[in-house]
Amino acid sequence: MRGFDSIDRIGVVGAGTMGSGIAQVAATNGYDVVMRDVETDLVEEGFETIDESLSRLVDGDALDREAADAARERIEGTTDLADLADCDFVVEAVAENMDVKRDVFGDLNETVDEDVVLATNTSTLSITSIASATDRPELVVGLHFMNPVPVMDGVEVVVGERTDDEVVSLAHGLAEALGKETWEADDKPGFVSNRILMPWINEGIRAYDERVATREDIDRGMRLGTNVPMGPLELADHVGLDVCLDATETLHEELGDRYTPAYLLRRKVEAGDLGKKTGRGFYEYE
Ligand code: CAA
Repeated sequence: MRGFDSIDRIGVVGAGTMGSGIAQVAATNGYDVVMRDVETDLVEEGFETIDESLSRLVDGDALDREAADAARERIEGTTDLADLADCDFVVEAVAENMDVKRDVFGDLNETVDEDVVLATNTSTLSITSIASATDRPELVVGLHFMNPVPVMDGVEVVVGERTDDEVVSLAHGLAEALGKETWEADDKPGFVSNRILMPWINEGIRAYDERVATREDIDRGMRLGTNVPMGPLELADHVGLDVCLDATETLHEELGDRYTPAYLLRRKVEAGDLGKKTGRGFYEYE
């Protein structure tokens, strides 16, 4: 296995919200990064997200402009997976779809040196199943970042059925080198984070649909009552209602009826009201 001290260049597959965030924190922590998506437009959108986020950090004095510019320079964009060939560690952050992820891991297995660890940012899917698309399941691990990646402190390390102990240690070490604190979960549906967070969001949606309170009071009640930064409806909008529905459906399939997606969640996704990213979810955005 390529160890922690040999990691200089990190490959990130997927330039969406999570992939671009991961690329950004890797670069601001001194790593060279290759960020890949399937189309040039998607890579460019990833860079736009990174530029906006770096500027927010600079405006808030969390990073100086020179360091932000240097980080930006360290990120190379590509649409060609072959450009990840000389990476020392790879994180995948593509769509939450098992077939898509297994295809990506099959391709990575062919592209990246055989001693390189392949991590997945999956939020609910089986690490073990993703790993079995490769010839190196012992080198596959879950590295589940939280959104927005540049400001959230935690990363969940998920241990697949065949993940080697040394790979688990490497995943913790690398996440810490990216400025994060970690916790570890077994490869059970939703791990720790989404097994608990998704039913919380789902129940918030049901409470709203059943007129328990206004959307504002549901969010305010949970913010003030449990000291969290966002209530369930505003958090659903922040994460994306499509992401919430996919995750809840996976939990429902794996763990049964207690995870049945709320009717209103399904309806909103059908209507294309996916939260902040489409300008409308449970709230409206500029
Ligand atoms: N990049 C850089 N900086 C950012 C940023 C980003 N993407 N988003 C927010 N910030 C900065 C802001 O610029 C601001 O900086 P200053 O304090 O210097 O002004 C600071 O963070 C706070 O932001 P805001 O003032 O805009 O708003 P806020 O105080 O409500 O914080 C938040 C925003 C960090 C998102 C906070 O509301 C929060 O922590 N919410 C909960 C998020 C959460 O639970 N995420 C996990 C979702 S679950 C998940 O990701 C797993 C999954 O699989 C679905």
